[in-house]
Amino acid sequence: MKITVLAGDGVGVEVTRQAVRVLSEVAGFYEIAVEFDEQLIGGAAIREKGVPLPEETRRACLESDAVLLGAVGDPEFDHLLPEQRPEIGLLKLRQTLGGFANLRPATAFPSLIESSPLRAEVFEGTDLLIVRELLGGLYFGQPRGFNENKNEAFNTMRYSIEEVERVARVAFESARQRRKKVTSVDKANVLETSRLWRETVTRIAKDYTDVTLEHLFVDACAMHLVTNPRQFDVILTENLFGDILSDEAAVLTGSLGMLASATIGGKIDLYEPVHGSAPDISSQNIANPIGAIASIALLLRYTAKHAQAAETVETAIKNVLEAGYRTADIARGDYKCLTSTSEIGDLITRHALEAANSNFAFHAV
Ligand code: IPM
Ligand code: MN
Repeated sequence: MKITVLAGDGVGVEVTRQAVRVLSEVAGFYEIAVEFDEQLIGGAAIREKGVPLPEETRRACLESDAVLLGAVGDPEFDHLLPEQRPEIGLLKLRQTLGGFANLRPATAFPSLIESSPLRAEVFEGTDLLIVRELLGGLYFGQPRGFNENKNEAFNTMRYSIEEVERVARVAFESARQRRKKVTSVDKANVLETSRLWRETVTRIAKDYTDVTLEHLFVDACAMHLVTNPRQFDVILTENLFGDILSDEAAVLTGSLGMLASATIGGKIDLYEPVHGSAPDISSQNIANPIGAIASIALLLRYTAKHAQAAETVETAIKNVLEAGYRTADIARGDYKCLTSTSEIGDLITRHALEAANSNFAFHAV
C-alpha cells in the first residue's frame, strides 16, 4: 500500500507519528508492504507553500491507496476568510478524494467508563457507528458568501436524491455487519432537504428488509445520545448534523481524542481522527494518539482488507487501556499511569506485536 501521510497542524503531527509507527510495525508482522509519503496540508502548507492544499499534496494523495491525516487548523490563521484558512485544505482534499461516507465508530471501553461524562449505567455497552454524509449540505452548497455590503451572509443546504441514496446504502450495508438497525437523523419538520432525505432513505430501506429503520429529528438525537446511547446502532445523517453529533458521541467515550474515522466510497480512502489540531496542548507530547491509531485499524480493515491486522490494533488499544495507561484527557477514576503521547504509541505497538504473535502461535498449533 502507498500511504500519503498528512500530519497537518498542532497535535496532528504528534498523533500521526504514533499512528504511522503502529501501522509500519503491524504491517511488517503481517507482511503487508507499506510505503509512506509525507506531504503538507493546512496551516503547515500555507506557511511553506502559501496554500492549504498544494498541488504536490493533491497529486501524491491521488496516486496513493489511502491517505492518513492528522488534523488541520491553527490560530495563526484565524483572521483569514473561510476560503483561505487551513480547514479549506481538508475540505478540498475530501472533494478531491471523493469519499462521501464518513464512518465514525464510538464504543464504550469498559476500562474507560469512569472517564465518560455519563454515568456508567447509562453509557456502558454503547456501541454505535455514525455514518456522516461528507460531500454535501451546507459545507459545499452553492451559492454561498457575503452580500456586497457585507452585512449579510448566506450558505445553501442542498442534497440530491443520488447523494442521499449512496450514503444511505453505506449505512444499511454497515448495519448488516452489526446489529441491523439504522437511525436516520434529519430535521424533516423544518427543512426541505430533510424531507428529501427522509423519503429517499425510506425508499432505500426497502432493499434492506433485514435492517430496521427509524427516523429521528436531530435535536431529539442529540438528547437521546446522552440519555439512552445504547439504543443506537448505525446513525445515518447529513454533513453538518454528523459533524456536531460525532463530537458529542466522541466525548461520551471519554474524550474527543478517542475517536477514529474512515471516509470511503470515493477514489481514495481517507483516514483521520475526529479531533482537531488542539493548539492549546500541541508540542507537549500529551495529546491522545488513540483516535489516530484506531484510524489505522480502520485503514487495515477497509483499505488493506486485512481484518486480522485490524483486530490486532484494536486489541492492543483495549489492552493498553485495561492495563491502566492514560493520556491526560482520559485520566479520571482508577488508573495506573499518566502517560505521554509517545509512550502510548510505544505501548500500543508493543501490545500489538504481542497480540499478533500469540494469535500467530495459536494458529500455528
Ligand atoms: C471534522 C472537522 C472538520 C469538519 C473541520 C476541521 C473542517 O471538524 O472532521 O469533524 O467540520 O468536517
Ligand atoms: Mn468536527
